[in-house]
Amino acid sequence: MPTLTAEQVQGLDPYAFLAVLGKRVIHPGGRASTDRLLELAAVRPGERVLDIGCGVGTTAIRLARDHQAHVVAADIAELMRERAETNVTAAGVTAQVRVEDADIRSLPYPDGSFDAVVAEAVTMFVSRRRAAAELARVTRPGGRVLATEFCWRRPPTEEAREVFLGQVCPGMRFDSVEEWVEIYGGAGLVDIHTESGPFEMMSARGFLADERSHAPAVMARTLSRPAYVRKMAWLMPRMARAIPYLGYVLVVGRKPDAGTEPNTT
Ligand SMILES: C[S@@+](CC[C@H](N)C(=O)[O-])C[C@H]1O[C@@H](n2cnc3c(N)ncnc32)[C@H](O)[C@@H]1O
Repeated sequence: MPTLTAEQVQGLDPYAFLAVLGKRVIHPGGRASTDRLLELAAVRPGERVLDIGCGVGTTAIRLARDHQAHVVAADIAELMRERAETNVTAAGVTAQVRVEDADIRSLPYPDGSFDAVVAEAVTMFVSRRRAAAELARVTRPGGRVLATEFCWRRPPTEEAREVFLGQVCPGMRFDSVEEWVEIYGGAGLVDIHTESGPFEMMSARGFLADERSHAPAVMARTLSRPAYVRKMAWLMPRMARAIPYLGYVLVVGRKPDAGTEPNTT
């Protein structure tokens, strides 16, 4: 992978930056919410699973290694796909995980292609209704859609909202748990279940819980270049202003069986 210039590092979005630092878990619920997502997904050996917006491939690798699924790990960003390829190879699961280029707004897969579809922290970057409709479309009747999203745990101050949505993650859209239920219900999913919790990915406790034995390598890489240190020094105080209000929500729904009417209430 080519070394980025200092200007390129400065221009990275926070998630791409964390991937460049070697972070493996890059979504607001952290490893704990992925553990729960995988539990609720109940993927069986041989099932076809799409992990869209797969980032560096961490959840896709777990689906292959721990659940013997056949996984398509797809992402719009070349930088993420390159790192996902490297991690999939290192994990020894290349026979089960295909890394592909795909856009959640217009997935290049036929209707009903997957038994389960996973999207951890992806729909928020685009038109959420369109993305949710695409997730439902490529899921087979009776299959599951599982997503992790940001939410506000309590109403943010104007400053916290502006810093997070205006500076840290410009263009990102999210609001309450209820709103996510409405969006996924509107996509035709039924039996929608949610679980939410605090945003801990950037706290010391969350970082260590997510990265485990890999944490020292991420810290060492952060300190290895002034451009990384500068970017982190810009990011952390801004994140700190929003974190008291931020949470994650895990949304799980089922596509109705063929011939049954969706219940969108
Ligand atoms: C917050 S990161 C989450 C990465 C990974 N799912 C995880 O939980 O570690 C968001 C990911 O979504 C990808 N992404 C953003 N917009 C996308 C789109 N329109 N289609 C597919 N992937 C997208 C980004 O490149 C990035 O890898």
